[in-house]
Amino acid sequence: MECIVAALAGDGIGPEVVAEGIKVLTAVSDRFDHRFTINEGLIGGCAIDATGTALPDATLDMCHKSDAILLGAVGGPKWDDPNAKIRPEQGLLGIRKALGLFANLRPVTIHPLLLNASPLRPERLQGVDLVVVRELTGGIYFGEKDRGRDAHGEWASDLCIYTEAEIARIVRTAGNLARLRRGKLTMVDKANVLESSRLWRSVTTRIVNEEFADLQFETMLVDACAMHLIRRPADFDVIVTENMFGDILTDEASMLAGSMGMLPSASLGEGRMGLYEPIHGSAPDIAGQGKANPLAMILSVALMLRHSFGLGAEAHAVEAAVFATLDAGVVTGDIARPGQEVASTMQVGAAVAERVLAA
Ligand code: IPM
Ligand code: MG
Repeated sequence: MECIVAALAGDGIGPEVVAEGIKVLTAVSDRFDHRFTINEGLIGGCAIDATGTALPDATLDMCHKSDAILLGAVGGPKWDDPNAKIRPEQGLLGIRKALGLFANLRPVTIHPLLLNASPLRPERLQGVDLVVVRELTGGIYFGEKDRGRDAHGEWASDLCIYTEAEIARIVRTAGNLARLRRGKLTMVDKANVLESSRLWRSVTTRIVNEEFADLQFETMLVDACAMHLIRRPADFDVIVTENMFGDILTDEASMLAGSMGMLPSASLGEGRMGLYEPIHGSAPDIAGQGKANPLAMILSVALMLRHSFGLGAEAHAVEAAVFATLDAGVVTGDIARPGQEVASTMQVGAAVAERVLAA
């Protein structure tokens, strides 16, 4: 099989983790006899420095011509001026929107050896296996923004707007996913306060009644969900929610898995093209030191193999290699137990690649 992959490393630890993702992808091509053509492009802060924009046309063109995109991370203190007109994050938001990648899947599973890496008590984590399906191209992230000043001082506003069609398509994505899993769907909103949430609730309830009556369905307020994710995380199967709630809840959920460095994500649209990235950010404090955990990126490569290329066995081989690497105790500092030897980003990537080759 021949596939074209755009690799957008971005800023901070992005280049380090993407390099390990590519190392593992190369191992997959050697082991399973596929051809992946990898083209590199700029996005985020490094793109601003080189071209004056966070998402250069050349990058977008390259992505349009690719079968899938691997993305590291964007942002950093250098570009953090809150008054700046051009920001690294515009690159990420821009590419999600331009490619119509409205469904962001963020799975959370826990490796038994990492039970102690989580700040939660291990017994709370038994059986945790959930996916957050986050709407990615609408809501307050993309609504009109405004800023002004009047006699009382400055004001600012961000519009949170959703259409019925935007809600319906993401609910169908989540419903279909729940059907392939344990058959439970939780829709998270703030319908006691927000009008947009009341639309989410009515559209979701109608679609579930009409098309997904076989699922066990519940609605939950976002503040309650934040609590239940800690109190009884194993009860969740598929959570579907709007853009900003999904952003916040998935950082929280990452602590179930012990580290932000463990959680991959897939951003999908109508076709097979997808963007695959870790949920973590650019971690400028540890950039360039070989300390970053590459497993979220490597697990994102597995999601790419499965969702965009239909290579389920290859995806499984990568995931199995990740688990075997954890079993062998080759881990970065974020998930090491006290006294356990700490491996570098490159050592962890090499350990996974080696196990893929031996699969
Ligand atoms: C994420 C990130 C991004 C988001 C930022 C970097 C714009 O936090 O992917 O979760 O808010 O979507
Ligand atoms: Mg986030």
